[in-house]
Amino acid sequence: MPESYKWAGHAETPSRRWSRLYLLVVAFTALYFSGRTSLQVLGSRPSASELVKREHILDQCRYIKTPAGPPADFHARQESDRFVPGTKPVLIKNATIWTSGQNGTEVVEGDLLLHKGLIKAVGDVPLKLLQGLQLEVVDAYGAWVTPGIVDIHSHLGVYSASDGNSVKAPILPWLRSLDGLNTHDAAYELTRSGGVTTAQILPGSANNIGGQAFVMKLRETKERSPTSMLVEPPYTLNGSHFDHDLPPRWRHMKHACGENPSGVYSMTRMDTGWNFRQAYDTARQIRDKQDSFCAKAEAGAWAELGDASFPEDLQWEALVDVLRGRVKLAVHCYEAVDLDGIVRLTNEFKFPVASFHHAGETYLVPDLIKKTWGGAPTVALFAANFRKKREAYRGSEFAPRVLTSHGIPVAMKSDHPVVNSRYLLHEAAQVHYYGLESNVALLSVTATPANAMGLGHRLGRIQEGYDADVVIWDSHPLSLGSVPQQVFIDGIPQLTSPHVSAKPSSFQSPPNTPNFDKEAADAFAYEGLPPLDARPIKRAIFVNVDSMYTRSEGDLAVQERPDVVVVQDGKVICSGRAMCSGYLSDKYAEVIDLKGGSIVPGLTTYGTPLGLVEIRLEPSTNDGSVLNPLAKDPPAVLGDGLIRAVDGLQFEGRNTLLAYRGGVTAAVTAPSGSFVQGVSTAFSLGAPNILQSGSIQSDVAVHVAITKNSAQSVSTQIAALRQLLLGHGGDEMLSRVREGTATLVVDVNSADIMASLLRLKAEYEKVSGKTLKLTFAGAIESHLIAKEIAQAGVSVIVTQPKPYPDTWDQRRILAGPPLTADSQVTALLAAGVNVGVGLVDEYEARNLRWEVARLALSSDGGINRTTALALATTNLEKALGIHHGDMPDDLVAYAGGDVFDFEGKVVAAISAQLGRTDVFV
Ligand SMILES: *[C@@H]1O[C@H](CO)[C@@H](O)[C@H](O)[C@H]1NC(C)=O
Ligand SMILES: *[C@@H]1O[C@H](CO)[C@@H](O)[C@H](O)[C@H]1NC(C)=O
Ligand SMILES: *[C@@H]1O[C@H](CO)[C@@H](O)[C@H](O)[C@H]1NC(C)=O
Ligand SMILES: *[C@@H]1O[C@H](CO)[C@@H](O)[C@H](O)[C@H]1NC(C)=O
Repeated sequence: MPESYKWAGHAETPSRRWSRLYLLVVAFTALYFSGRTSLQVLGSRPSASELVKREHILDQCRYIKTPAGPPADFHARQESDRFVPGTKPVLIKNATIWTSGQNGTEVVEGDLLLHKGLIKAVGDVPLKLLQGLQLEVVDAYGAWVTPGIVDIHSHLGVYSASDGNSVKAPILPWLRSLDGLNTHDAAYELTRSGGVTTAQILPGSANNIGGQAFVMKLRETKERSPTSMLVEPPYTLNGSHFDHDLPPRWRHMKHACGENPSGVYSMTRMDTGWNFRQAYDTARQIRDKQDSFCAKAEAGAWAELGDASFPEDLQWEALVDVLRGRVKLAVHCYEAVDLDGIVRLTNEFKFPVASFHHAGETYLVPDLIKKTWGGAPTVALFAANFRKKREAYRGSEFAPRVLTSHGIPVAMKSDHPVVNSRYLLHEAAQVHYYGLESNVALLSVTATPANAMGLGHRLGRIQEGYDADVVIWDSHPLSLGSVPQQVFIDGIPQLTSPHVSAKPSSFQSPPNTPNFDKEAADAFAYEGLPPLDARPIKRAIFVNVDSMYTRSEGDLAVQERPDVVVVQDGKVICSGRAMCSGYLSDKYAEVIDLKGGSIVPGLTTYGTPLGLVEIRLEPSTNDGSVLNPLAKDPPAVLGDGLIRAVDGLQFEGRNTLLAYRGGVTAAVTAPSGSFVQGVSTAFSLGAPNILQSGSIQSDVAVHVAITKNSAQSVSTQIAALRQLLLGHGGDEMLSRVREGTATLVVDVNSADIMASLLRLKAEYEKVSGKTLKLTFAGAIESHLIAKEIAQAGVSVIVTQPKPYPDTWDQRRILAGPPLTADSQVTALLAAGVNVGVGLVDEYEARNLRWEVARLALSSDGGINRTTALALATTNLEKALGIHHGDMPDDLVAYAGGDVFDFEGKVVAAISAQLGRTDVFV
């Protein structure tokens, strides 16, 4: 390769180049005459082109040893490299600024100046900075302002077009997530609207080494290209010909161990271990060759090097950079066995890890984590998404606080779309609820992930000279359901006409969270599987009760400030101090102080496979899925009966018991399957099995799913449903649906399919003279035909209270505040539809109360407390066709707060169904 070509990519000016060359010539001449090296073997003076080549080699040798990071004068910058000319300077006045400073405890009250893509002043903005600026002034009226939320683990843009995983081989360090980054992913806008400004886009976890990751900002760019979205991309993106005088920027890479790569490649963990060692050995050999080559070059032993060129391999150069400590490595690993393997690997090959991801068991092995070569990595966690697979079974909401107590940094992450990254801050808020200090919780989605990615010099803080990525919130960021009023990225406002709801004034301070010290200690002591059974008692006296809601004739009745409530055998026997005076001295009753808390009906959950699934990806723990009768003839032995969920129910699962401890006392679960799913069942979460008061109602409704993703056309599915409705005989529940005494629940998302179903309902009713009780579940596009749904008397169960357009069928979501004033639920309620709220993932069943509360909190008063409760009780039950008299009057006692905030803690379930009170503390 001619030298002139090699130089083509250099940014150096010719004069600088020649002056360097001059210096080199001088140096060589001096060495030549000093005679103390082996230069004499050259026999003659090196040619000019030889000197250029040598200089290039020495350049490269110097460069590979240069540590990565920002240039020394980085903080002297006056303008961001991402500044968009024309962006107006912004003065945010009267803000309560959480800066990330002082370990996340610093709060500055004052103003904030954003200019040239940077934060120019915090607190008191000197007048001289404002002179001559055409300012955009934003009055925050004292609102909380934080740095933009940083997501250390996202697949935004790469999963929407299935570009997140290559399955060509387990070791692929040469791949780059950037090459699959779809700039049209609808999730960018949604995620920004949750205050997320930066995300690390990782390749998937199908491989042991899935490839290189990139950090991007989530705003649109003028160029509209993936590359233009990157933050400090490594110079290597432009090939190897770049200015070697600049310090290298951090690179990023993903590794994964455990079930995901094993599943894809039919490997064992032992294979994974060897894959890694073999890969690192290859990289080490290249690195060693480079080092000895450079040692010779630096010693001037050019003759020994002869014509050899710098040892390089394009496939392995990134992994070599890992060994040189210039890559921020993100390692997906769950279990102690996997973490141990990686920790040994880092010590064998001597490279650091920036972050362990998912890392469900890190909190159980903190000493092991600290043995990682180069020090403990940041641990990136979910708040609640556990138990989906065996390796995640021991995950805990207490992991962040345990790790923090060991001095190990914790970041909360989305793994978007696994957790919708729009709600990343909610992950931090949840772990704060479970006892992680508020300063650390906020750091976990700002400075901590920014530091772990090597971007702590510009992201994750509100400090002069940092990138102008800031969020103005409508309430304290750790309060339930906080929503951005405005999001700035590089100083550019991202929300054009944000819709903001007034929040309760108490939500302006961090929530006064309950004490979970015992639960956290148990989680550690029992290696992630603490006992979850309750302590049953016969009679309890609840004192300091602020309010009590009870079911009454299908509605909810409220009693304010009863103060005292006495229960016996799972039933309220009196409320109010006067009414209960006769019981107060009962020394056999247990007194439970609710500290101003409340008693409300147990919630009912629908939409998850709770009771049929324990570990979703572990078939031996689950009921399994129902045959699709359109795909295959069901075996004759089944006859024409429908599959009944009640026949497959299992009790005392961890998701079930955690939901019970979360205030959910009943679940309605349908069999899992495509098209005709079968008959759902209602059961009690606190029961030990179906025979001991487990069953609330054996057969609830008939369930059918109609989607565009099926092997059969939508029209085929609807034709088959028509045949089932208009036919005769068959299953008794189907006959009841035909008679109008049982409900047909259709899992459906597309508004077009729902419209066709409304026509089918009308057609059926005309032909049969009967009423078809119809409910749509999922129904994410239902707001588009809300009026027609209401007119047809059809109920809707919204199963994605955090709406996300996962498939084409779901693309027309109503995003809710701050993007739209209405949410799907408020739009349906306004049209007069009976609406219930369900969930899809069984791990989330325990969080139903917060999901409903968020909807209410951002409804600007549209959803009051009674309606909010009804969404997860009476409305939902009505939608499923359960008569109000058929639901037990189960109640749940919350201490220290309410069902709908981050302050109340469930202390007891007063179970009419079980005839006892289950105490959880
Ligand atoms: C930061 O705050 C947390 C929680 O209050 C504490 O555990 C930790 O030691 C603090 N770190 C430093 C460096 O002060
Ligand atoms: C900041 O806003 C709060 C809330 O509106 C207001 O009470 C306070 O007076 C304002 N402070 C300043 C300095 O404007
Ligand atoms: C790559 O080269 C282009 C064109 O010269 C330049 O605009 C860009 O900043 C370079 N990128 C990096 C990461 O050096
Ligand atoms: C709550 O809202 C519903 C529906 O708007 C209304 O009917 C009901 O009266 C409200 N309840 C209270 C206590 O305000």
